[in-house]
Amino acid sequence: MKELSLTKTKQTDLDKKRQKTLIESGVIPEHIAIIMDGNGRWAQSKGNIRLFGHKVGVDSVRDITEACAQLGVQYLTLYAFSTENWGRPSAEVRGLMRLLVSSLRKEADNLHRNNIRLVTIGQMDRFPDDCIEELDEAIRLTENNTGLQLCLALSYSGRWDITEAVKKIATHVQEGRLAPNLINDQMISDHLSTAEIPDPDLIIRTSGEYRISNFLLWQLAYSELYITKLYWPDFRRNELYEAIQSFQKRDRRFGKVRKKNKDEITQ
Ligand code: FPP
Repeated sequence: MKELSLTKTKQTDLDKKRQKTLIESGVIPEHIAIIMDGNGRWAQSKGNIRLFGHKVGVDSVRDITEACAQLGVQYLTLYAFSTENWGRPSAEVRGLMRLLVSSLRKEADNLHRNNIRLVTIGQMDRFPDDCIEELDEAIRLTENNTGLQLCLALSYSGRWDITEAVKKIATHVQEGRLAPNLINDQMISDHLSTAEIPDPDLIIRTSGEYRISNFLLWQLAYSELYITKLYWPDFRRNELYEAIQSFQKRDRRFGKVRKKNKDEITQ
């Protein structure tokens, strides 16, 4: 198994064994998407300010990214800042931006060394200049990497994504280049910000809330859902392994019937 080390601590033999068991026991999801929720409540439950939760949440981001890369997951999409998050108190928004800049500054070289490619989806033009510069630098540095693709959803919402796709398609129609009856599922997928990547196989949400919160609305149509009560700062690689184990037990039919049942029907 490839040695990757985003963290300063060396991967333990026990962790290597756990990953090997997981790889041998079933399919590793090609694309995992995560709604990282509960940073604020985690911090408050410890008598701390919300920003402390976001800070420790970055440690979870690092650990989960590293574990995904080691397991051979191809795409990891993290809901790091939603369109709605702009409505939070300005001190928290500013704190999150600063955290993003400092985390990128600290981690970009590590991502690169580990062959991880960083990309973003969302309305990046709403971000402050220093954030955009730091992101652009990390994106450029890692653009030719061929391992895990880490996608940060920033100022992102599923409705925004679909609206932008509809606008682009409507322009093709308006310019007479497309007949409306030719619009289909694939065309809509091809105009979303995630056009280049497959839909998520597994969507994980922390903090026990049973909702999608305007994340990848179109793309999650057939994703397997895994919800844990743990707050994001407590969600680390062992919890990821549990989520993948649960995924491996799912029977994904994509609205069809299982092969065995199909044979029974056609007999
Ligand atoms: C949700 O917890 C989390 C966020 C809105 C931000 C997630 C950001 C990070 C983990 C840090 C920065 C990320 C990167 C990629 C460097 P919440 O604040 O909604 O918690 P609550 O539901 O308990 O209020």
